Amino acid sequence: MKSEGLRHAWKPKVDGIIRELGKTRNALLPCLEAVQQEAGCIPQEAITYLRETIEVPSVDIYGVITFYGMLTTEKQGKYVIRVCDSLPCYLNGSREIIEALEDELGMNGRDTTPDGMFTLERVACLGLCDKAPAMIINEEIHGDLNAEKVRGIIGMKKKEECGWKGYY
Ligand code: FES
Repeated sequence: MKSEGLRHAWKPKVDGIIRELGKTRNALLPCLEAVQQEAGCIPQEAITYLRETIEVPSVDIYGVITFYGMLTTEKQGKYVIRVCDSLPCYLNGSREIIEALEDELGMNGRDTTPDGMFTLERVACLGLCDKAPAMIINEEIHGDLNAEKVRGIIGMKKKEECGWKGYY
């Protein structure tokens, strides 16, 4: 069934990692990263598959997912925007950045836009304090931000997505 295939698009990568690293705990984090990348989150069926394949208890799998901020069981948008809200960024205006993002994306209290395009997260220090306030979009770094710069960056992302309708 087509939807089954799409739902398990992560499986070939995971199987490849397990073949390379063996059915050991060493394979767990790379497998989870691969699932996150392919599926945009860690679905329950992937947790079950890993538990049965590399024989790591579910509690340990959830432990790893909780520990690493880049992993999540919640479905995320195509663009995951992580804005630092730690003190140096806060003192340099991270609140203004978050407000501009919420406004530009029409978040209305949501974490992800209804079209599944953008997810907005407030996170602790990104290690970019010299560029405060800072954010990353997927793996793209943006620093020395202000509201205008943020609106420009989001405008570019929207343009890249021809089908993006927006929720203003
Ligand atoms: S405090 Fe914001 S990147 Fe470090």
